[in-house]
Amino acid sequence: MEYKGVKGMGDILPQDAGVWQEIERLARIELESHGYQEIRTPILEETAVFVRSIGETTDIVSKEMFTFSDRKERYLTLRPEGTAPIARAYVEHSLDKVFPGIAKLYYIGPMFRAERPQKGRSRQFHQIGLEMIGSRSPQVDFEAIWRLNRLLKKIGLDGFTIKVNSLGCAADKINFSNKLKIYLKGEKDRLYEDCRIRIEKNVLRVLDCKNESCGHVVKNAPNILDSLCKDCDIEYKMVKSMLRSEKLEFVEAKNLVRGLDYYTGTVFEVTHGSLGGQDALAAGGRYDNLVKEMGGPDAPAVGFAIGIERVIIALGDKKNLFQKPTVLYIATLGHEAKMEGFRLAEKLNEELNKDRFKVMTLVDMEESSLKSQMRNANKNGAKLVLIIGEDELKEEKIVIKEMSGEKAQISIERDRALEDIRKRVC
Ligand code: HAM
Repeated sequence: MEYKGVKGMGDILPQDAGVWQEIERLARIELESHGYQEIRTPILEETAVFVRSIGETTDIVSKEMFTFSDRKERYLTLRPEGTAPIARAYVEHSLDKVFPGIAKLYYIGPMFRAERPQKGRSRQFHQIGLEMIGSRSPQVDFEAIWRLNRLLKKIGLDGFTIKVNSLGCAADKINFSNKLKIYLKGEKDRLYEDCRIRIEKNVLRVLDCKNESCGHVVKNAPNILDSLCKDCDIEYKMVKSMLRSEKLEFVEAKNLVRGLDYYTGTVFEVTHGSLGGQDALAAGGRYDNLVKEMGGPDAPAVGFAIGIERVIIALGDKKNLFQKPTVLYIATLGHEAKMEGFRLAEKLNEELNKDRFKVMTLVDMEESSLKSQMRNANKNGAKLVLIIGEDELKEEKIVIKEMSGEKAQISIERDRALEDIRKRVC
């Protein structure tokens, strides 16, 4: 019998895991050093957590959730995103008491959506997300967009576009939705079938439909920014003015509405040309009512999530530039030499990785011939091979062999080896 992975859920193989680790490492440094703390929620939640927050008529809830009932007939769902579970955890654990100001949280992990798999779109994918809960201030919107930009840059990305828009408060959204409905009903014949249904079910989504004919209709649709109330208008203008004053380039995208119902106020998306149809690298926005709607305090919030798979596509060849550790291969002959080699590897590993993970030590623990150990060293891209044979063991020496260029080698006293190797590695 042949077994295959579940459709749209890929394996991250050892040869590819390095770039994932590096992206996650850089993200953690950027976020933790700016005061964000990690939160880990379960992969499964009660289905209602998502239905209530993301919205019953959205694509995610109506078509894309992996939902099943457990043995007690409770409906559970593999999380399609991280914001709703975090709002749930914030309320359940009264995090407003733990973080009396803004709770600055981040998460890294897998999400699940039963979408049709294609380049940049899978059924299990991974997000790095950030949520700031507990403030209505537009400065916090600015900070979210700023941090997203910094994070993508730190990971090594450039050439992306930041798109910004505002949906206004809940009342503004209703006002605008009504105006849009009236307009779209008049143009119904030019819309494709799904969008005709959306007029009643999820009218805002017609605005970001990729269908050409719908695109023509949308061009002349009312502008959402004309429906903002005074406060929302002022707040949105403040966000844009802060972005401009800090020289953070962005484009205003009046049709950016986002596919999740919880958004209010500022919304944003980052796109990258390398991604084709699925061009959003990251997206987010404000969700002022979610925590309250989930039974919590009035805690307005803003956040975003970055898709790691898409980041890796957008990095292209740059992902090969991520610093890989220097490989030191310890080749030995005979049992005693092997144990000496083992001790050497442990010592080098400890000493050379003190401030940062720089060095990988590989030591052959089998009875392999020197020739096969050298082959292995080559295969693993070793910079140096450290050889301990019978002679070296007797004379308390080590042979250090460079694996590139002239492949020069020296024989050195065991107690001087560490300093010599340190110089060659750093
Ligand atoms: P989202 O726009 O649904 O927002 O997803 C954010 C990012 O996740 C996308 O821009 C994309 O990079 C990645 N992504 C989404 N679906 C897939 C997929 N099927 N395959 C690969 N990558 C995918 C959210 O999830 C919100 N929770 C973001 C947020 C946080 N808003 C406020 N706080």
